[in-house]
Amino acid sequence: MKFPFLCVIRGSKIIHRFHRKVDLFPLQRPWSSAVNHGSDQLCKENSSFYITTPIFYVNAAPHLGHLYSAVIADCLHRWKLLQGFDSRFATGTDEHGLKIQQAAEAAGKAPLTFCTEVSERFRNLFSSCNISFTDYIRTTEQRHRRTVEHFWSVLWNKGLIYKGSYEGWYSTQDESFLTPSQVGDALDPSGKEVKVSLESGHKVEWMKEENYMFRLSVFRPFLLDWLVKNPRAVQPERFQQTVLHWLQEDLPDLSVSRQRSRLQWGIPVPGDPEQTIYVWLDALVNYLTVVGYPDKHDQWWHAAHHVIGKDILKFHALYWPAFLLGAGLPLPQVIHVHSHWTVGGRKMSKSLGNVVDPFEHSQMFTNDGMRYFLLRQGVPDSDCDYTHDKVVKLLNAELADSLGGLLNRCTAPALNSAQVYPAFCSQAFCRAVAEDHHMVAAVRSLPTVVEKHYESMHLYKALEAISACVRQTNGFVQRHAPWKLDRRDSKDHRWLDTIVHVALECLRIYGTLLQPVVPEISDRLLNRLGVKQHERSWKDLHFLQRYEGTKCPFEGRMLGSDSGLLFNRLESQKQKAKKSHKFGHLK
Ligand code: MSP
Repeated sequence: MKFPFLCVIRGSKIIHRFHRKVDLFPLQRPWSSAVNHGSDQLCKENSSFYITTPIFYVNAAPHLGHLYSAVIADCLHRWKLLQGFDSRFATGTDEHGLKIQQAAEAAGKAPLTFCTEVSERFRNLFSSCNISFTDYIRTTEQRHRRTVEHFWSVLWNKGLIYKGSYEGWYSTQDESFLTPSQVGDALDPSGKEVKVSLESGHKVEWMKEENYMFRLSVFRPFLLDWLVKNPRAVQPERFQQTVLHWLQEDLPDLSVSRQRSRLQWGIPVPGDPEQTIYVWLDALVNYLTVVGYPDKHDQWWHAAHHVIGKDILKFHALYWPAFLLGAGLPLPQVIHVHSHWTVGGRKMSKSLGNVVDPFEHSQMFTNDGMRYFLLRQGVPDSDCDYTHDKVVKLLNAELADSLGGLLNRCTAPALNSAQVYPAFCSQAFCRAVAEDHHMVAAVRSLPTVVEKHYESMHLYKALEAISACVRQTNGFVQRHAPWKLDRRDSKDHRWLDTIVHVALECLRIYGTLLQPVVPEISDRLLNRLGVKQHERSWKDLHFLQRYEGTKCPFEGRMLGSDSGLLFNRLESQKQKAKKSHKFGHLK
């Protein structure tokens, strides 16, 4: 296939210098067999699962949005482990490019020293927030450089990269090329007229350079075909529609290098030291570096799932699949997209002073508190607002009062003096009323409901369903007020034990299902119930077996030791202010 000598692409002019034969056809369609019939079917057979976060820019300290991407991916990874998958979970840092080069200069540090320091901050944040990554990748590592060089040479050898000259808009903050229709006018803080990206609001500059170009334009029909055949490739649906909408127009070829004179901090183009590889091509290849491309990536690459924020959809759902198709590699199973957190209704930004420090807030609300809030309130389809009091209200209601209160009630020596998982009595359960039977039915079907929501990344719906069941169980205990029963009466005694048995069974199911979201709290809860480590997986979710007439392995077992409240109530800002005022007055 030959390409014309000169082509002009809407506003950005690309002059092809060389005629090279392009060995494109027959292009493999790796998506048709792998993804068509429900992605996870194939993965289940392989029992491999590979989940990634975006790799984080090191030009600034981690903020709440970064932790959010990582917590979502961590939850999915833990969920897959719970189901018995062999799951691999990669995160790391994106360290090349102009904005990192500039940030290092501004900090007066050598780029690598600067990157190492900030990369460590991300790694520490993730470790302290229980982000259980199995791989941490830095794009400045040698193994990554080798992979990128190889990937480049594959595209080059297929004639998919050519030397041309690019003229158009570029945003350094987004490291992104923009067409004229994606650019608008704005005033900078000093009142000067500037051009900005309409999507991100970041300043753009006109760029004219000799570059290497990637033949993105030829991939448009293939990308359309992939998305049409795989309606769940990009989730939620809304974002798949966005990508399909982008594909209604021609895709311009993509500049995939910068002149070395402008950008030194990056991987040189193989065979041309005057050019540096475009940071997004470099960064996206991290997903392959982790799994050992080009030697031993097959097992994991077939099971790849990416978690990304909505701002980087174009890179992951257009550029990345096109690069992969060009290199003859399978496409990701699913690209899971999430929306953003705003603070006080506005985008987080240094200049507004509203950036939420995830370290500070995880200490204030605990790791699990933070994780629970982000996943319970975060909706993939739309942005959510973060406020201190919203966090306090939610965590107090659902973790401290509802879940913590239920555990406390049912394990307190006043109600359970023997500190055992008491016996269930079918005859005594005849005292149960219709609402109790509804509750039992709801908890029995809860694993299936939660599975559906975890699988589709509607994590807030999974948590909503669990929370509704916890409320029902509290209602059950409250309704029958076991503390009012007379232990000396054998019938009452059996009924009391049955109520506690049912409540503990409910708690066991909640603790098991909550492990991907709040691993520390679940661990404490299950320890208190005396549930052993090997009894906490998907296959252990049989609920209330005694009600079905089968043996319950927990019945009669001693409870674990009491390690205090499951979750301590938090104070709102108002309460805090009141207290400090009172304290100040006393002083
Ligand atoms: N380095 C690129 C990704 C390369 S992946 C091959 C990048 N890095 S980032 O540090 O800017 O962003 C990382 C993630 O944080 C993205 O998923 C982004 O959407 C997410 N968030 C950044 N701000 C956010 C919020 N305010 N809210 C939620 N997530 C946000 O992009």
